[in-house]
This record gives sequence, C-alpha cells and structure tokens, in this order.
Amino acid sequence: MASGLRAVVLAAGKGTRMNSALPKVVHLAAGQPLVRYTLDLCDEIGASALVVVGHEAAIVRAACGARTNLGFVIQEPQLGTGHAVLVALREIPSEPGIAIVVLAGDVPLLRAETLGTLCAMREASDAAAALISFQAPSPSAYGRVVRDDSGAVLRIVEAKDATPEELLITEVNASVYVFDGPRLRETIQNVRSNNAQSEFYLTDAIGMMVAAGHQVEALLLDDPAEATGVNTPTELASVEGEIYRRRATFHMSAGVSIEQPDTVLVGPDVRIARGARIRAFTILEGTTVIESGAVVGPFCRIEDSEIDAGAVILDSCLVRLSKVSAGATVGPFAHIRPDSVVGENAKVGNFVELKKTILGPGSKAPHLSYLGDATIGAKANIGAGSITCNYDGVVKSKTTVEDGAFVGSNSILVAPVTVGRGAYIAAGSVITKDVPDGALALGRARQENKPGWVSRRAKKS
Ligand code: UD1
Ligand code: CA
Repeated sequence: MASGLRAVVLAAGKGTRMNSALPKVVHLAAGQPLVRYTLDLCDEIGASALVVVGHEAAIVRAACGARTNLGFVIQEPQLGTGHAVLVALREIPSEPGIAIVVLAGDVPLLRAETLGTLCAMREASDAAAALISFQAPSPSAYGRVVRDDSGAVLRIVEAKDATPEELLITEVNASVYVFDGPRLRETIQNVRSNNAQSEFYLTDAIGMMVAAGHQVEALLLDDPAEATGVNTPTELASVEGEIYRRRATFHMSAGVSIEQPDTVLVGPDVRIARGARIRAFTILEGTTVIESGAVVGPFCRIEDSEIDAGAVILDSCLVRLSKVSAGATVGPFAHIRPDSVVGENAKVGNFVELKKTILGPGSKAPHLSYLGDATIGAKANIGAGSITCNYDGVVKSKTTVEDGAFVGSNSILVAPVTVGRGAYIAAGSVITKDVPDGALALGRARQENKPGWVSRRAKKS
C-alpha cells in the first residue's frame, strides 16, 4: 500500500449503549479488545494509526497494546466525529498526496481487502473521499447515503436530522472512509454543529466536498455483516461468533483438524500446528501452543499452555499456564494448574489435580490424586488416591518423589518429604519422614485378624 497512508481511529466516545463502566472499544471480542481489530487492519493495509482517545483515555490506550506505527491524540471534550478528525489532523503533517483512512474502533469484522478496495477506488478517480456503505433493511440510527438522480453521492444525513423521506433510504454509512488529506483538511474546519445533536459531524464533510465540486465515491458492500459496528452487548456477542468462525477457518486451512468448529473457541494469540486435532467444545486461550499430532478435547479449556507433539488431552480437562510434553496423556477430568509440567509420555488420569508440579517422563498418576509443589522423577507411579499434603495452614512445602519410586494407593505424603529412588510406599501410608532409596515404607496401623470373631459374637447375643 501507498506509503502516504495514515489511519485515524475514532475511539474517544463512551459507547453508552454497552451499558458498561468500561469504554466500548476495550471490551473483549473473542479474546481481544475491539480496538485491536481496527489496529490490526491498519497494520495490514500499511497505514500508521493515530487513535483519538477521550473518555477513559488511559484505559483505551492500554487496551491498544504496544505496537509500532501507533500514536494517540486526546479529544477533550468530545464534540462529535468531525471534531475528532479535526483534532487528529493537527498531529498529521499536511503533505500533498497523503491519504487518510478514518474508521471507528468498533468494526472488528471489516476486512483488509475491503479497505484496500476502498483506497484503490478513491485513488483511481482522484476522489476527495470514498466511503463504505451497505444496505440495511431497518437502518434505524445509521446515517443515510443520499444520492442524486444519476446515482452519485450527494451527502450523508444523520438519522436524527433526516426528513421522513430521507429516513426511508436503506443505503447507510458504515463510518469507514478514506480521504484525500489536503481536501479533508480544508473541509473539516468548516463543519458546523447546527444540527439535532449539536455535534460536529464528520459526515457533513461529505456533502460539503460534493458542494465544492469534488468527487465522492461510495463502495456498497455485498456483505453488510463486514461493516457491523458493535453498540450493544448483544451485537458484541454476535460479532464474536463470526470472529471465532473466521479463526477456526483460518486454522483449518492451515491444516488443523477441528471437530464441529462452531463449538471450538480459539483465542487471537493461540498457535496450532498443522496436523493437530481439536475436538468439539474446546476453548484455547492466551498464548497456548498446540503442536502437531496433539489431540485436545472434547470439552477442554487450555489457557497459556504448551501441548507438545502427540500429547492427548482427553475429555473435560482444564490446563492453565503449564506444559504437557510430547506423547503425554491427560484426563479425562484432570486439572493441571499453573506451573506444572507433565513429562514426555507421562500419564495424568481422571480426577487428578496438579499444582506447581513436575511429573517426570513416563511417570503415572492415573487416578484421584492431588499433587501440589511436587517434583516427581522419571517412571514413578503414584497410586490411586495418593496425595501430597503440601500445606500446613501456614506454609507450603515441597514433596520429592525420585525416579522409579512406587507410591501405593491412598498414601499421604506429608511435605516436606522425599521418597528416594525406587522406594516403595505401602498402600494407605501416611509418610512424614524421608524414605531412603530402595526402601519399603509402611506408615499405617498393622492389620490384625481375629479368627472366629463373628460366630462368637453371634453366640453371645
Ligand atoms: C456514525 C456516523 C453515521 C454512521 C454510523 C455508523 C457521524 C456523525 N455519524 O454515527 O453516519 O451511520 O457512525 O456506525 O459520524 N467518536 C469520537 N469523538 C466524538 C464522537 C465520536 O471519537 O466526539 C467516536 C466514537 O467513539 C465512535 C465513533 O466515533 O467510535 C462513532 O461515533 P458515534 O457517536 O457512535 O457515531 P454514530 O452515532 O454511530
Ligand atoms: Ca456507532
């Protein structure tokens, strides 16, 4: 794209209809603040972005994240979209040949190709402006695009200022424009606020340009969904559905197998390798990475975690800030809490919880365990129902189980404690002292059998 391309992102408003304490553009859509979709778009078309902030400026700035080619300008007070652009232009050098894209921070479905087409359309006819319009069967609050008998754009009239006849127009303004810089600059200063809302409308600049003899083009979209702005929580939810669908399609076209993609939610920063398989009703969030040949789901949530090649996360697992190494199996119904590592070919079975625990390569915790603050070596076995007592109510302590140790079922390892290499713990033990390498530890009452006791009792009564 042309190097003289700038983008002004309008984000100073409140977004009253979101009915939220937060400004509209910071609301998350499919795991990413709304405004970032617009900034991504600016990046894609090679335009440096200037974001107009005002209401809760600091929060909006933070939501934009760190990126190159990004600047901010404060609009205070917010006197309308035309005023917002006027304020922005003070920060943009007045060079001939510069084109300025203006768009809001609440149109996450807009495609870079469409914006590219809009810019090309304006350049081809050297128009002062080109804008995106679409047909809205019930146009309600949208500005209407008024055309003359020949079909040329005359002006835009805001719904609140429209005559009854104008309100019948169904072609509406999407609020996405590209302007010739100098002609925008000369026009915008003459916009006045003598209208129903006493605001400086950017849309007035369109009619003024036409009146001054400049050409204005409108790109009528085939797919109006693309221009959908987010104004309410309901609209946010529906836009979010479309973003998730697009993302699933993107990953599938990169060779990822996704079962029932409408039920799979993949976050913006998730990476999935070709050849991985994501099963139905699974959510992948944060900086999660799924490597080739891994299978995740159904009904799993993986947050900020790494699932290595060939690992399998079975039904209904929650994995957070952890790593599941190559060939490991987790679940069904396992909870892997932050800072855990499931080693290569290790196995975490059903109803097992790990917290800050390293389960070494080839080790197994197949059933009903809690392992917290533990380091478990290679090829160890944690029997059904065994747990670490890592917390005495005041401090957390560590448990170490060395390579090849065998912890019998229903054992309690009272930390701090170490079970040595190849040691055995008898089932049902409470282990409070370190167990040496190769030893058998019994930490339970010995069983006593009383032969004939049942019949003796029967005779007595
Ligand atoms: C605007 C258009 C309307 C169009 C509609 C599409 C105007 C006057 N009208 O109406 O023709 O059909 O978008 O959604 O432009 N903003 C500022 N500073 C301000 C006012 C607004 O930065 O002083 C920002 C808002 O945060 C928002 C965007 O500009 O991101 C649009 O403002 P809004 O007041 O929502 O305009 P609409 O009434 O939707
Ligand atoms: Ca709006």
